[in-house]
Amino acid sequence: WAIHAPYVAAINQLKKERNAVILAHNYMTPQIYLGIADFVGDSLQLAVKATEVEADVIVQCGVHFMAETSKILNPAKTVLIPDMDAGCSLAESITPAGVAEMRRRYPGAPVVTYVNTSADVKAVSDICCTSSNAAQIVAALEADTVIMTPDQYLAQNVAKQVPHKRIVWWEGSCIVHEQYTAQDLREFREWNPGTRIIAHPECPPDVVAEADFSGSTKGIIDYVHAEKPEKAMLVTECSMASNIAGELPTVDFVGPCNMCPYMKKITLEKVLHSLHNMTGAVEVDPAIAADARVAVQRMIDMSR
Ligand code: 13P
Ligand code: SF4
Repeated sequence: WAIHAPYVAAINQLKKERNAVILAHNYMTPQIYLGIADFVGDSLQLAVKATEVEADVIVQCGVHFMAETSKILNPAKTVLIPDMDAGCSLAESITPAGVAEMRRRYPGAPVVTYVNTSADVKAVSDICCTSSNAAQIVAALEADTVIMTPDQYLAQNVAKQVPHKRIVWWEGSCIVHEQYTAQDLREFREWNPGTRIIAHPECPPDVVAEADFSGSTKGIIDYVHAEKPEKAMLVTECSMASNIAGELPTVDFVGPCNMCPYMKKITLEKVLHSLHNMTGAVEVDPAIAADARVAVQRMIDMSR
């Protein structure tokens, strides 16, 4: 921490000068999560928070689609992302042409698009979802067939929760969560009996089936707080366990984790640079933003 202290102090001072707030995803490093964030959360919490920000500037410590979502929901604000290359394998897997192709294949079926997508994909979708509300949203739609884009595994996990619907999906995946296998989890459990295994729903369904609980990053944090297991394996991005270990001293976080190279592009140095120079402003074409806002706002309204 000592080497980070000057950055943390400088950023916290600059936040006041620029009238800025930092919205940080649960996958940020502890230096960001604990040192400079004004608000931390999962994708849904960050989107809702973006609608409430009154400060002039939002610094999005997360990936590009999260900054775009903040800009879509609160367009009068300056939204900065400290590294424009903080992408996402899911967001990169689909374009509006992909959505059009799915609509051609399944005429009349509504398109439920994961927030892990670019604004132009959201703009051609009927409604968005996150991992915390996907099943609830799909279940509430009237249609019997529902198109889910772009995460095939989230869609397959939702299909198990909403068995009375036919769910079809785009074949995107998260490079962090697709690496886990059910065999890994079984072997880990065998060698470490008593470990509570908690998986993110971007993992393949056989991995989720092997886990004791599955939920969004907020869902995972809430579960560990409520249950306080002696040993917990978080089948998700590495920073999650580091960020919450301090507030859960009786829980031993064990097992392997995977790093998201996109999330890890956001560093204290880049946050300082971006806030100091006011660089990395995210812009969304107003017509695209207007259409994307409808899909994101529908999701927020249905999640209340
Ligand atoms: P949530 O925080 O919404 O669970 O999403 C995880 C994720 O991978 C975001 O990129
Ligand atoms: Fe995208 Fe996966 Fe990284 Fe989340 S963890 S930003 S879904 S690549």
